[in-house]
Amino acid sequence: MELPFAESWKIKMVEPIRKSTREEREKWLAAAHNNVFMLKAEEVYIDLLTDSGTGAMSQGQWSAMMLGDESYAGATSFYKFESTVKKLFGMRYVIPTHQGRAAENVLFSYLVKPGMVVPGNAHFDTTKGHIEARGAKAIDVTCDEAKDTQLEVPFKGNVGLKKLEKVLKENKGNVPFMVLTITNNTVGGQPVSMKNIRETCELCHKYGVPVNMDSARFAENAYFIKTREKGYENKSIKEITKEMYSYVDSMTMSAKKDAIVNMGGFIATKKKDWYEGAKSFCIPYEGFITYGGLAGRDLEALAVGLDENTEFDMLQTRIHQVAYLAQKLDEYGIPYQRPAGGHAIFLDADRILPNIPKEEFPAQTMTCELYLEAGIRACEIGYLLADRDPVTHENRFGGLDFVRLCIPRRVYTDNHMDVIAAACKNLYDRRNEITRGVKITWEAKLMRHFTVQLERLGK
Ligand code: F0G
Repeated sequence: MELPFAESWKIKMVEPIRKSTREEREKWLAAAHNNVFMLKAEEVYIDLLTDSGTGAMSQGQWSAMMLGDESYAGATSFYKFESTVKKLFGMRYVIPTHQGRAAENVLFSYLVKPGMVVPGNAHFDTTKGHIEARGAKAIDVTCDEAKDTQLEVPFKGNVGLKKLEKVLKENKGNVPFMVLTITNNTVGGQPVSMKNIRETCELCHKYGVPVNMDSARFAENAYFIKTREKGYENKSIKEITKEMYSYVDSMTMSAKKDAIVNMGGFIATKKKDWYEGAKSFCIPYEGFITYGGLAGRDLEALAVGLDENTEFDMLQTRIHQVAYLAQKLDEYGIPYQRPAGGHAIFLDADRILPNIPKEEFPAQTMTCELYLEAGIRACEIGYLLADRDPVTHENRFGGLDFVRLCIPRRVYTDNHMDVIAAACKNLYDRRNEITRGVKITWEAKLMRHFTVQLERLGK
């Protein structure tokens, strides 16, 4: 008999979690204004809000932390981190930051000016926020296939090259860089192929536009290239990573994802002028250029995390768990962005709750329902997160409306996946009874989904 698949690690430390009653959850959700970001973590049974900073570090990372050099300037830990980044990505200049959006803040402060245009394959919300807050425009150039959630194609995160060329042509001289996000979080953790990375970069460079790789989940992207793209099956994750970054000019990274640290990020670039420019923003925003908002011990954990998580077994274990959950949802006929992505399952709320109009935010409604059903905290990646158009102030209903079930790395077991799938099934079975959604009672101007206050209609 062939042996079944199992994790490439074993568990050394555990953290208790607690179930709650529906009555308790009703009370807690109301107190949180029907926004799951406002719940206390102890009110949550299974936390699928994000895979960001929520992973379980390895013994290698924890032991490296004891070697943290906490010198203000020139810490040994910085040089270890810098050499790992240089080796993995082939980038000459490296600036640490406390997380991904801080890297965006520092680099974009130097590069983005009012009236500029920044194309990208579905900019993440903080990335879009940092562009729009500077009076520039973020234009989505993701391939059209991403919009059809039931279409099964291997690289749904790809850039639509024709769309990109149109933006580059129409805005000559006004595009400071293009953002290439791997994997494409917003459309479902969908990967970008090596071919598309190469062609996107060639096209941008033809128009004199540099490419910045938004790298939060680069290792998962490399895993998909290895397992789905012809010619890469025998290459290592590290070799694939090296090739992906050979085409781009710079990277910003939220290390809280694929480096499996609780906090951390960085900018790396091949461009000396960008490095010099960004450096001067790092100091006032993040701190001196050899720590950038991080403790020496954080830099140690980050370096080890990057190295360990660019090994195939680690990624295979992770992606296998996401696929396991997807397979359960398939058994129950629950629609999600197909095929399953790297870090999460994106449930298609428009299809699951057809009785809820867009104006009543179907994905947010479902996020509330899932919490009430089983204490599972998911995250709306849809019309709320899309924010209002900065010019018209209208809600942006043009994109997809997802409930993201985001799986932290090495934290939950497949038994937890079974619970999640069963809760989704219960909700799906009574989908026709859910006829009213939610209404905004208070919202922030930018990145409103974090703090929005909502009312459940008909309650
Ligand atoms: N880019 C991408 C693709 C991201 O997914 C994130 C964060 C960031 C940049 C910003 O990084 O959080 O370290 O400041 N995504 C998290 C998520 C928050 O839940 O998907 P950060």
